[in-house]
Amino acid sequence: MTSAPQMHNDLYNQLKEVIAEKKNVRNPLIEILRVAQDIFGYLPIEVQEFIANEMNIPASHIYGVVTFYNFFSMTPRGKYNLNVCIGTACFVKGAPRLIQMLSDELGIQMGETTKDGLFTMTAVRCVGACSLAPVFVIGEDTFGRIDSKDKVAEIIKRYQ
Ligand code: FES
Repeated sequence: MTSAPQMHNDLYNQLKEVIAEKKNVRNPLIEILRVAQDIFGYLPIEVQEFIANEMNIPASHIYGVVTFYNFFSMTPRGKYNLNVCIGTACFVKGAPRLIQMLSDELGIQMGETTKDGLFTMTAVRCVGACSLAPVFVIGEDTFGRIDSKDKVAEIIKRYQ
């Protein structure tokens, strides 16, 4: 069986090859970061520093790029993206209360991932289901008219 540090080394070796292959093309950084995020699942500081060394550019520059684009994440993502709509219709119909209920149920704040690695909660703009407001989405599934803790708990349970 492969040990955890060994697995980690394999991931870095994989990344090293990607960097060697792509570093001389024009503006390679975004593409390298995208592949690095695919390999590691997220972009912690250690991975950013590794890329900085390999590419001979300041780590601060990489950090700037990673924090600028919201498709890059510095924390591990959960198995499911749980997106809460904060568009106008949902906001008016109780999105803040829905966020509070989800936070209580999952034990996380917006932008965080649950300890079991199942859910990452993020806020999104209108998902096109305003008549069901307030709405949240898990993966491809949309849940609307969520007005009680019991409903929240019941839905979350389906994914656990
Ligand atoms: S505002 Fe939430 S679905 Fe449209």
